[in-house]
Amino acid sequence: MVATAVFHAALTLVLFTAGVSAQNPDGKYTISAEGIRANFIPYGASISNLFLNDSNGVERDIVLGFDNASYYSIDKKHPHLGGVPGRYANRIKNGTFEIDGVTYNTVKNENNGVNTIHGGSNGWDYRNWTVAAHTDNSITFTIFDKDGEQGFPGDVQSFVQYTLTPYTWHLKMGATALTKKTPIMLSSHTYWNLDGFQNNDTANALNHTFSLPYSGQRVAVDGILIPDGTILPNEKGSVNDFWSAPKKIGTDISKPEILGNCGSGCSGYDNCFIVNRAQEGPYDWRTKGPVASLSSDFSGIKVDVFTDQDAFQMYSCNSMNGSMPIKATQGFFNNTNRPRVVEKYGCVVMEVEDWIDSINQPEWQREKKNIFGPETDPYVLQAEYRFTVGGKGATSRKTEL
Ligand SMILES: *[C@@H]1O[C@H](CO)[C@@H](O)[C@H](O)[C@H]1NC(C)=O
Ligand SMILES: *[C@@H]1O[C@H](CO)[C@@H](O)[C@H](O)[C@H]1NC(C)=O
Ligand SMILES: *[C@@H]1O[C@H](CO)[C@@H](O)[C@H](O)[C@H]1NC(C)=O
Ligand SMILES: *[C@@H]1O[C@H](CO)[C@@H](O)[C@H](O)[C@H]1NC(C)=O
Ligand SMILES: *[C@@H]1O[C@H](CO)[C@@H](O)[C@H](O)[C@H]1NC(C)=O
Ligand SMILES: *[C@@H]1O[C@H](CO)[C@@H](O)[C@H](O)[C@H]1NC(C)=O
Ligand SMILES: *[C@@H]1O[C@H](CO)[C@@H](O)[C@H](O)[C@H]1NC(C)=O
Ligand SMILES: *[C@@H]1O[C@H](CO)[C@@H](O)[C@H](O)[C@H]1NC(C)=O
Repeated sequence: MVATAVFHAALTLVLFTAGVSAQNPDGKYTISAEGIRANFIPYGASISNLFLNDSNGVERDIVLGFDNASYYSIDKKHPHLGGVPGRYANRIKNGTFEIDGVTYNTVKNENNGVNTIHGGSNGWDYRNWTVAAHTDNSITFTIFDKDGEQGFPGDVQSFVQYTLTPYTWHLKMGATALTKKTPIMLSSHTYWNLDGFQNNDTANALNHTFSLPYSGQRVAVDGILIPDGTILPNEKGSVNDFWSAPKKIGTDISKPEILGNCGSGCSGYDNCFIVNRAQEGPYDWRTKGPVASLSSDFSGIKVDVFTDQDAFQMYSCNSMNGSMPIKATQGFFNNTNRPRVVEKYGCVVMEVEDWIDSINQPEWQREKKNIFGPETDPYVLQAEYRFTVGGKGATSRKTEL
């Protein structure tokens, strides 16, 4: 017992010491590669800053976050900020699910206790992960989630590795269910504004161009965004059509059909789009073309999202209301007409993931991508965010690790 305690104390000291020496004064860990630099923090294994030079050579910080690592634990009103939701991303209907005839109840932390969101009130993006490795261009976080935490069955060990290569952010996530069968679904909950809030003409992202070339369908949801089991068509020309051609996020934002599209009384997007590549036959996600693209004419920055995942959530920051501050690295200090906050539609969240709440929709037959146990393969998520600036960057390069 004593030996074990001493060992753990020594290990903690080593990790702590290594961590401190690698952090900047704001408690952030920096990694970089040609054309791209990013900061990460242990809280939620979150990205806190992502810098690229725009087409005029001006450096822009294009993701939301806070100025320092300690503030994430203090201001919890704006959670999921660039973090990894877990152990099960998005919503769980009624906070219940069944595995092999056993019903489990998870912490209901949304809609006054009606459902679970992002793994409960102590989900993975509310916790400090361990920094397991940190080099000039890569950082790896780990977390151990014990049996019964937030109501989920079984111990889970997980890691998230972020790596930068020229103009590219690589994400690799893995999770192993050690003792019991359990739902696992992870994602990266990054909020984007490709202008770094420095476009003098607009503080929002409605002028960002977005496309989902494989997403002719989406998951139907009720008024509080819980899937009802049906799959809806995104008819050509409809507000949810981002597949037939790229379109600005704001193109249809004033149309009557958009009211209720992101829940009761909500105008905008908070939808799980299906990534349907079945007709492609066997494909390599790294070369098959992006599942989503987002770009801004103002900054000339474009991000193409490549992933092995079969769904894609897009949220147009409908609930932002000016209470979330931007960072010191964003916006203007000399324009008093522009408050230093995120306004409604000020950002876009893009989440690669599986079909949401499929643990409560067995007829979708996605249990192998949602339920993991000691006898199954581990959970894996891979993605690459490839950037081009003024047409140059990742697409003209080899991005394999
Ligand atoms: C932006 O350009 C400046 C000047 O060339 C350079 O020092 C900086 O590293 C660049 N930023 C990024 C993110 O590459
Ligand atoms: C951390 O950032 C927050 C929000 O920007 C700020 O209010 C706070 O003073 C900062 N704390 C430290 C220790 O720098
Ligand atoms: C996470 O770490 C920060 C330091 O970076 C610390 O201020 C905070 O209290 C920790 N939060 C939790 C939930 O452990
Ligand atoms: C909802 O969850 C509660 C436990 O939190 C359970 O008693 C109830 O049966 C569940 N309702 C449905 C319709 O599954
Ligand atoms: C930005 O807009 C403000 C007014 O909103 C104006 O005073 C300022 O001159 C503009 N700056 C640029 C660089 O256009
Ligand atoms: C939106 O983009 C178009 C060009 O694509 C431009 O004409 C317009 O001024 C932009 N609007 C804002 C508010 O930036
Ligand atoms: C704005 O949003 C914050 C965070 O979601 C919330 O706490 C606050 O009540 C909202 N304020 C208004 C005026 O709606
Ligand atoms: C305000 O600051 C921006 C950079 O943040 C700069 O481009 C602009 O010229 C400044 N405007 C004035 C009037 O100083």
